[in-house]
Amino acid sequence: MSLKSNLKLALQKSPLIWGVYYRTKTEILRVVKLRYYLYDISQNYKAMHWSVAKTKRSIISAELLFQYHKLEKGLVMPGPKRLFGLAPARATMALISKWQRTEIVDEKDAIYRGAVGTLQSYYDRIVDFKLDENNVITDELSDFLATHSCERTAYNTPCQIMQLDATEANYSEQFSLLMNARRSVRTFSDEPVASDVIKNVVRISQLSPSACNRQPVKVTIVNDPEMKKKLLSHQNGNTGFGHLAPHIAVITTDASCFFGVTERHEPYVDGGLFSMSFILALKSHNISSCCLNWCVKPKTDKAAHKLLGLDPSLRIIMLIAIGYAPEKTPVPRSPRRDLDDVLNII
Ligand SMILES: Cc1cc2nc3c(=O)[nH]c(=O)nc-3n(C[C@H](O)[C@H](O)[C@H](O)COP(=O)(O)O)c2cc1C
Repeated sequence: MSLKSNLKLALQKSPLIWGVYYRTKTEILRVVKLRYYLYDISQNYKAMHWSVAKTKRSIISAELLFQYHKLEKGLVMPGPKRLFGLAPARATMALISKWQRTEIVDEKDAIYRGAVGTLQSYYDRIVDFKLDENNVITDELSDFLATHSCERTAYNTPCQIMQLDATEANYSEQFSLLMNARRSVRTFSDEPVASDVIKNVVRISQLSPSACNRQPVKVTIVNDPEMKKKLLSHQNGNTGFGHLAPHIAVITTDASCFFGVTERHEPYVDGGLFSMSFILALKSHNISSCCLNWCVKPKTDKAAHKLLGLDPSLRIIMLIAIGYAPEKTPVPRSPRRDLDDVLNII
């Protein structure tokens, strides 16, 4: 037996000494591991910074969404109509121009069309309600829109909310059924999930809300058995079942979609919201899943980025094991807390 094991055994003989040793060790490790925060800070600091010099498409499109979303919001605000949004309108035009200087922009691109469509609606609002009698921005917008167009209907804003007709279907019952039926599953059949179904699930999950609609999530689906094995070896919660899942989804968010330190939690919030939609959407196709934590050391995070070829600006939010559950699949009961423990009405 090694010296270390002998020492450990000797310490364990006295519960008092073992207790002191264990607590001291845990405290020291807690402090030593504070350096993991430095990794988060450095990764986010590098990524979360918008500047005119940055020409990466993902940053331009995030900034564009951030700016034109202010116009979208202004266009649906209740109350009297007034001139608003001069700065975001100018920023939107400048960003579209910057994007076009950087690369050939596909005019069918959803973000491009969203931005131009919103500018068009903003212009229409100003003209229809005669909000800019001093011509602060009308001509500027008109000149810009003369050379940037998109289909008027599909991308114009606002549109109307879809009201659910409760007489047609009991939506709350259906939602409750879906929520109750979704459970974390830790056994899977060999049957793969068709890629069209996965595409549909991602498409629906894209409807999740995100901060200023910046949609920072990127999903990687790992089907390759060797790659899956290597990836799962970096994760500590899949022992005994991870290898059975035909697919592993890697949910990531692009930290460069956020402009700075006050937004440091947003990648995780947006990634979490997307992930919830994703597992519910899977269940709506009767596909099972199990979220797999990404509570890893910086070294492991870097290794996974390298393995998957992920850009350093991408934060890994979680892995999700995906597949069909066999007909009879046991799941833990996992009861939920009492409502009083969770809900506080004041
Ligand atoms: C972010 C996150 C990480 C998780 N990580 C793991 C994991 O590594 N291994 C595992 O078996 N389950 C994991 N789970 C599943 C939880 O244990 C499970 O959601 C919880 O016990 C509630 O059970 P239910 O999902 O069946 O309702 C994770 C869940 C979440 C949301």
